[in-house]
Amino acid sequence: MKIAVLPGDGIGPEVTREAVKVLEALDLPRLTLFDGDVGGIAYKRHGQPLPSETLTIAQSCDAVLFGAVGDPDCDKLERALRPEQAILGLRKHLDLFANLRPAKVFAGLEHLSPLKPEIAKTLDMMIVRELTGDVYFGDKGEKVANDGSQEGWDMMSYSETEVRRIAQVAFRTARAGDDKCRVCSVDKANVLETSQVWRDTVKDAAGSHPDIELSHMYVDNAAMQIISNPAQFGVILTGNLFGDILSDLASAAVGSIGLLPSASIGDRKTDHGVFGLYEPIHGSAPDIAGQCKANPMATILSVAMMLRYSFGRENEAARIEMAVEKALADGIRGGDLGGEHGCEEIGEAVRERL
Ligand code: IPM
Ligand code: MG
Repeated sequence: MKIAVLPGDGIGPEVTREAVKVLEALDLPRLTLFDGDVGGIAYKRHGQPLPSETLTIAQSCDAVLFGAVGDPDCDKLERALRPEQAILGLRKHLDLFANLRPAKVFAGLEHLSPLKPEIAKTLDMMIVRELTGDVYFGDKGEKVANDGSQEGWDMMSYSETEVRRIAQVAFRTARAGDDKCRVCSVDKANVLETSQVWRDTVKDAAGSHPDIELSHMYVDNAAMQIISNPAQFGVILTGNLFGDILSDLASAAVGSIGLLPSASIGDRKTDHGVFGLYEPIHGSAPDIAGQCKANPMATILSVAMMLRYSFGRENEAARIEMAVEKALADGIRGGDLGGEHGCEEIGEAVRERL
């Protein structure tokens, strides 16, 4: 089991440290960890947010554990040197085209959601976001228009091939969930050609999966429905930009950003799964970095996803998830949940409950 650990900036190092300790506590066979610099810290040390050594380390492993990137010192740098480019570069170079973001309200934490508790407790969905295409990676540029004003553009496109492969991931994910195989594909097919290709392709791909209950929704309506009636969603399948926005919306609806993990996977097979990159969905939170105030639970839960998807270790994944749930049930709370427990303390509490 070769894992690249890329802690990055801000609270990244402290939360990954606790997650690694949880991983080590499981006593897995042949666990080898490799460290790499990424983000603002990598820029400061190597002049690049994603140094080639880091990419090489990631490529040589079965999985990547990623902390967070983002550093206010780097805000004024040209776009190519900013910390965010590291995560975009990793996704693209490693062909991590599928982003899985579970959003659920943990039992007993309904009051943290801005939704009414009876609605909040029904929120349990998985967003499957395409991650290497769309307007994120299309042609982009800037020019001075005829009237002398500045103009910028970013091209949005999806090919059938790109849509088909992410749709298959969504169908597989729906099947792996406990409830019925509901997939809601989210697009803007009333306006965008890109979305029309998306919708036609998703429909076609679902043709060979009669067990999948497929529906389609426009993204503006989806934003409304996630808040007003989240119970209707099992798996949400969507493109890169819409997925970026909806996954933040869903995590805000959960109300505890420090608890939400994510997986970015591709097609490359490992011995017992697929290569993937795992990261908490929260950012680098520079304001609380180094103060032991961060909640490592999202990163710890990302390790659970890693064990499940990249190493086929469902048992250990479930053990971690249960340990986190037990810690929460026992009143362990980070500052993000209105509690007092520090980063190390929370990590230890989870390890004790494994
Ligand atoms: C995310 C983030 C990234 C994205 C940024 C940091 C480039 O918002 O992972 O959702 O837009 O994909
Ligand atoms: Mg985002």
